Amino acid sequence: MKKILLNNLFFFLMIFLLTSATASAAATSVCIECHGGLSGQLGEIPTAEWHTSVHAVHRVSCHDCHGGDPTDYVEAMSSDRGFIGVPDYAEVPAFCGRCHVGVEEDYRASLHGQVVEFGGPNCVSCHENHAVQVATIDLINDISCSRCHTYDKPALIKQEISDTEAMLSRLEASIASLYRVGFDTGRLQDELFSTRNNFRRLFHSVDIEKIRAETAGFDADLAETKATIDELEETLGQRKLVGGALVLLLILGGCIALLIRRTFENR
Ligand code: HEC
Ligand code: HEC
Ligand code: HEC
Ligand code: HEC
Ligand code: HEC
Repeated sequence: MKKILLNNLFFFLMIFLLTSATASAAATSVCIECHGGLSGQLGEIPTAEWHTSVHAVHRVSCHDCHGGDPTDYVEAMSSDRGFIGVPDYAEVPAFCGRCHVGVEEDYRASLHGQVVEFGGPNCVSCHENHAVQVATIDLINDISCSRCHTYDKPALIKQEISDTEAMLSRLEASIASLYRVGFDTGRLQDELFSTRNNFRRLFHSVDIEKIRAETAGFDADLAETKATIDELEETLGQRKLVGGALVLLLILGGCIALLIRRTFENR
């Protein structure tokens, strides 16, 4: 009896330890706990905005950007625990560039990056700090870009890249539907992925000549991918035709068999 009781006790203790361990692993960081309760720009606003962001989706949290220790209430913001606080305006590119290395490189080489100390935009000017969303060419718009200069050149850039963007989306959709009907699209997907990544690096240069020159190259790459897709879609069309013909033949065969049986039965 005593042994059973002890066994049960041990069992419950194990369950308790396990659930509390998973609970603390799932809990939010102390940064979010404490700042979520502070008002305004110091707490509620950054916390709520961050929750809507692409970073929240990918679990890039307060401490991944600001440093510090998300497990220790008291020492959370101590520099001993790696807290780096808030970057100055011109330090933002390096702050974000710890993770977005390629983008920072392109930005630094651009006119924007070179004049960041004299009124050029930093990453936050275009992407915001806490409400960062998946980037699209919609970020290039009259309201955002006209804060500092006319919209002429931005409009030209947008026009230049939007046809290629649209083609990219169309090809992505085609590949997805080919995949759904059972084609092996691995190579096509890899091809398009690499074209897209390289193409999307272009914008940060804000160099209209460079963008014009390189977009032509990307269009040529995409035309190749499109040709392969067209071929596959044609094969698919033929398959459907042959399949349709087979079904027709089967139905016809069935009808004939039925007719023959009827004539035998009638005799
Ligand atoms: C116990 C509450 C509490 C915790 C935990 C906490 N903070 Fe703070 N934080 C504050 C308060 C209060 C301020 C404003 C006063 C100050 O700067 O010390 C602040 C300020 C900040 C600032 C602005 C600093 C500046 O220079 O303007 C940042 C960024 C920040 N916290 C990030 C974090 C991060 C990241 C974590 C987790 C690793 C964290 N905080 C944990 C209460 C907290
Ligand atoms: C993607 C990186 C990133 C993440 C994640 C992030 N921050 Fe920030 N945060 C910044 C930047 C950059 C600034 C500097 C402000 C600016 O330039 O607009 C900043 C500024 C702040 C400030 C100073 C007040 C202000 O708005 O300028 C506080 C407080 C703060 N962040 C708290 C937080 C808290 C709390 C979290 C988590 C819920 C968080 N941050 C997550 C990048 C980030
Ligand atoms: C002048 C506005 C502007 C500035 C400044 C800017 N960006 Fe962007 N960013 C954009 C636009 C517009 C796009 C979308 C380009 C596209 O889809 O072709 C983009 C795309 C991105 C992407 C997605 C790229 C991809 O491969 O999918 C990341 C990440 C990014 N920016 C981070 C940053 C960082 C980090 C900085 C600072 C070093 C920065 N941006 C500065 C406007 C800007
Ligand atoms: C600790 C690493 C880290 C830091 C610091 C960081 N990011 Fe990110 N960021 C990520 C990850 C991870 C993703 C999601 C995966 C991806 O798209 O690359 C992401 C995604 C993005 C995207 C969407 C990319 C797309 O595909 O459209 C943008 C825009 C972006 N970040 C901008 C910023 C800006 C601006 C800052 C500075 C305020 C910043 N990031 C700081 C890690 C980081
Ligand atoms: C915070 C201010 C600021 C914002 C916001 C801004 N720019 Fe700029 N931009 C500058 C400055 C400063 C220059 C360099 C001096 C000039 O040409 O006015 C510049 C120059 C340019 C140039 C000219 C490059 C050349 O070769 O002449 C282009 C193109 C450009 N920006 C595109 C954009 C686009 C697109 C956006 C919106 C997504 C944008 N900018 C948003 C400040 C800004």
